[in-house]
Amino acid sequence: MKIVSVVGARPQFIKCAPVSKELRKEHKEILVHTGQHYDANMSDVFFKQLNIPKPDYNLGIGSGSHGVQTGKMLAGIEEVLMKEEPDIVMVYGDTNSTLAGALAASKLNIPVAHVEAGLRSYDRTMPEEINRVMTDHISSLLFCPTKTAVENLEKEGITKGVCLTGDVMVDALQHNLKIAEKESTILKDLKLEGKEYFVATVHRQSNTDSRENLTTIFNAFCEITQITSSPLIFPVHPRTLKYLKKFGLSETIPEGLILTDPLPYPDMLMLMSKAKKILTDSGGIQKEAYILGVPCVTLRENTEWVETINNGMNVLTGSNKNKIISALKRNRVEISLKDSIFKKGNASLLIASKIRSKESI
Ligand code: UD1
Repeated sequence: MKIVSVVGARPQFIKCAPVSKELRKEHKEILVHTGQHYDANMSDVFFKQLNIPKPDYNLGIGSGSHGVQTGKMLAGIEEVLMKEEPDIVMVYGDTNSTLAGALAASKLNIPVAHVEAGLRSYDRTMPEEINRVMTDHISSLLFCPTKTAVENLEKEGITKGVCLTGDVMVDALQHNLKIAEKESTILKDLKLEGKEYFVATVHRQSNTDSRENLTTIFNAFCEITQITSSPLIFPVHPRTLKYLKKFGLSETIPEGLILTDPLPYPDMLMLMSKAKKILTDSGGIQKEAYILGVPCVTLRENTEWVETINNGMNVLTGSNKNKIISALKRNRVEISLKDSIFKKGNASLLIASKIRSKESI
């Protein structure tokens, strides 16, 4: 079969790496990079380190308002699809690249396969939630990471083509953590060996673009380093850096708060795996924290990864400073991957085999 895979943003490079490897064993894959993420440390470094084949097309779309960004992608992807005439289009996650890929394909009557289907935060103010709902409703194959995701689709009347595969990020994490343990020097570079420390990330539009929310989150980070005397490592997304500067927050940074560029995936995994706690508004990092057994504080009012909340490994605090600080009082727990809600690391294999038997679904 000829498959066009559409990626564009950092988490999609991570998700597509293990799937692409499996697909290429028996199918022809054409890789399209929309160019949504374009900084070297948000894109190129992931392709190199995750051994993702060079994209056949890079549409170079870059940043823009949601309408402009998605619209340009839609036109660019449509052109590729008309030329390549694939049997199926694969899309990943919930970004504007996901929606554009799915929409372009469905308008040309090409079946869409959605990896990470069925997630819902039930917050329609999030651009990602709109992208999830729209993509699921125009997909023919829906690969769900969890049982909850399957049930969410059922509630919306989607039962055909739905398949519970487990989470491809478990595949990626297991593979890359082994590499990181051998090769990553991040703990040494940041002088963290044998020390207790926290890791934090923020990039969600509702947190970065709001002066009030970004300021309270940033103040909470500063206070944590003072209360605990432990460093807090904060790899900063380009969107966040832009707003930290705009709101004048990057001018006085306390000693224990260590801002870095976005980190390569193995370094990020290494850093997270040894952290005391993780603070984040990223969906992927909430899940990685859970798999690694590190308690997570989620800087949002809701989450699409509800299972992580149910067993207390993850706490929702929004951007409330007091809630963020009091949520830090939980300990690490050991989670057996065997029993994990995200399954055990063979999702890519299952996806490839379902694609093979597409007709029977
Ligand atoms: C996007 C996804 C989000 C995903 C995140 C992962 C959407 C709606 N959002 O958010 O779901 O979790 O990627 O990182 O698709 N920028 C750069 N260099 C880059 C990329 C971005 O400087 O390489 C800056 C630009 O100023 C841009 C801003 O970051 O305007 C936001 O980028 P964008 O791709 O629109 O959204 P993300 O915040 O990255």
